[in-house]
Amino acid sequence: PHIAIIPAPFDWGASRRGASHGPQAILLSGLERKLQNLGLSYVVESPDYLPDVSLDHRSEQHLRYWGKIAAVNEAIAQKTAQAAAAGQFPLLLGGDHSIAIGSVAGAARGRRRLGVLWIDAHGDLNTPGTTPSGNIHGMSLACSLGHGDSRLTSIGGSYPKVQADRTVIVGARELDEGERQLIRSEGIHCFTMHDIDRRGMAAVMDEAIAIVSDGTDGVHLSFDIDSVDPGEAPGTGTKVRGGLMYRETHLAMEMLAESGIVTSADVVEVNPQLDNGHRTARLAVELIASLLGERIL
Ligand code: ARG
Ligand code: MN
Ligand code: MN
Ligand code: MN
Repeated sequence: PHIAIIPAPFDWGASRRGASHGPQAILLSGLERKLQNLGLSYVVESPDYLPDVSLDHRSEQHLRYWGKIAAVNEAIAQKTAQAAAAGQFPLLLGGDHSIAIGSVAGAARGRRRLGVLWIDAHGDLNTPGTTPSGNIHGMSLACSLGHGDSRLTSIGGSYPKVQADRTVIVGARELDEGERQLIRSEGIHCFTMHDIDRRGMAAVMDEAIAIVSDGTDGVHLSFDIDSVDPGEAPGTGTKVRGGLMYRETHLAMEMLAESGIVTSADVVEVNPQLDNGHRTARLAVELIASLLGERIL
């Protein structure tokens, strides 16, 4: 099969429970039918690869549930790396955004010059020293860049999984002070909603694609559904007003498909317990289809 759909039903990285039901909601909203219509071969992996972490209570105020998160993400890294090594496109279904600690680590195992495109309302660039919440889904990108506690940065290997000059954030509109400082000090490329308003999504994505594909040997797309405006995507735990419009988001996915640069992806933070029916899960399916090559004409 060409695509490995890897469910990551996990939500201990977020402030609210429920994103663990994201994979099931996305699958029930017609993902397989879409892939079939696109003529893509795929396999839906069982979530059995994840360890049972129900009895792991290791947690700290500024690193909430780090024990569960470390154990689960080691398995996610392993599963992602395995699929990639088999020549498949790993497509992870979250889960909260802490699962990207594992997916990026797994994608980086066979691609040491990985580019990362992080489409999100947030930066997820906090560390235990800067986090306002202690929630690890707000630290995952920092962690992939090698910043923060070694219990997280060592997941999937004790080295930075990605470099700042190959990392691009698109859609940011709520950054904490420590995150702004990290963006500046590390030189992380960050296209905020302000940039999208001024220049348009097409120009921003052209530049983002150029940056993540320059000198890299693969690109991981980490797509947080809260990048989309809450009017279109109400089923997510940390909504921020003023997000991406429906067509802008599709355009971004379509441009990525045309570019052919994306080698792995995750779609995270779909929380069916907060959704309006399956509106947000259905949106996720449509966006995945665009990413994987669905065309209007
Ligand atoms: N910046 C906030 C925090 O650190 C919110 C993070 C939200 N992250 C997400 N993946 N939805 O807690
Ligand atoms: Mn505190
Ligand atoms: Mn996020
Ligand atoms: Mn977010």
